[in-house]
Amino acid sequence: MITLGIETSCDETSCAFLEDGNKVLSNVISSSLERHAPYGGIVPEIASRHALENIRAVFHEAMRKAGVSVSEIQLVCVTQGPGLIGSLLVGISFAKAFAYSRKLDLIGVNHLEAHLEANLLEAGEINGPYLGLIVSGGHTALVLYQNGTFTPLGHTVDDAVGEAYDKVAKLMGLSYPGGPVIDSLAQQGNPLRYRFTKPKLDQELDFSFSGIKTAVLHLLEKEGGAIKNQPADLAASFQHAAVDWLIEGVKNASRRTGIKRVFVGGGVSANSLLRMRLKSLSEEHGISVMIPKLEFTTDNAAMIAKSGYEKYRKGIRSGLEISANPNLKIGGVF
Ligand code: KG4
Ligand code: ZN
Repeated sequence: MITLGIETSCDETSCAFLEDGNKVLSNVISSSLERHAPYGGIVPEIASRHALENIRAVFHEAMRKAGVSVSEIQLVCVTQGPGLIGSLLVGISFAKAFAYSRKLDLIGVNHLEAHLEANLLEAGEINGPYLGLIVSGGHTALVLYQNGTFTPLGHTVDDAVGEAYDKVAKLMGLSYPGGPVIDSLAQQGNPLRYRFTKPKLDQELDFSFSGIKTAVLHLLEKEGGAIKNQPADLAASFQHAAVDWLIEGVKNASRRTGIKRVFVGGGVSANSLLRMRLKSLSEEHGISVMIPKLEFTTDNAAMIAKSGYEKYRKGIRSGLEISANPNLKIGGVF
């Protein structure tokens, strides 16, 4: 069975083909990131225009790479949200028109669930529950997947961790997106040079990342000269704290639920320190952690095809009346 996945929730336009729900035949991603960089963040109008101008070419390229023809496609899966309304509408409209014209089943997919289910591309079928850590530019959350449903355990009360990376990079005069830049700068820095206090929160499994951004701002005001000479120390110290808080969240969620399997998803899971610390969780605490391959870590349509295919297997179908939902929640909360 050939499944088409379509992802246009933010600045990427992506189409993928999946064979029998597990073999990725192609996963073509066209990013508009370069066009946003001068503005220091995503400009929704540029993102949706890019999706509109590129979706047909991306679809044809994905078909060519997969070696499939239009008549072989049997299922259409598309990101319904959360994301930018203009970008989402491009993918949804394309998917609906395609499914309607070919009389195919259509599945609307939650982008955040798909980030976690990207792990199933490698793990295959799994039995039993897992914890999910979502770390992206717009979301930071811990969820529990059990008996076919996602239940929220905790989430950021203010900024997402990726947002904090981007904002701290901006304060330091670094380029956008800040995550990869800080990650590589941090390699040469001393992570213990500056200390950041973990914010006190009412809920143990919640996160907060806006205070650390303000702390960085104050540091830059006070010690701007020293930091200019040695920016790597600040990058390393910020990264050390942010990753520490995420790891603590995972450990606490595992202790509370007794679940020792964790799926990680979202752009920040590309982070080298986070990947290293998550891996060592299994050695130190017997927690097995899965992180998607880099190709399936940032926004991509293969994860959408996979998530949609899993819904299809459970008998779930979306009607042609579905529309983009920029605020689509996972587990009814985030
Ligand atoms: O999931 P994603 O591709 O897009 C959404 O937000 O949905 O995540 C993008 C975020 C950005 O904030 C970017 O700075 C961050 O992921 N990011 C990283 C790294 N690579 C991307 N953050 C930390 N370290 C990285 N290596
Ligand atoms: Zn994403």
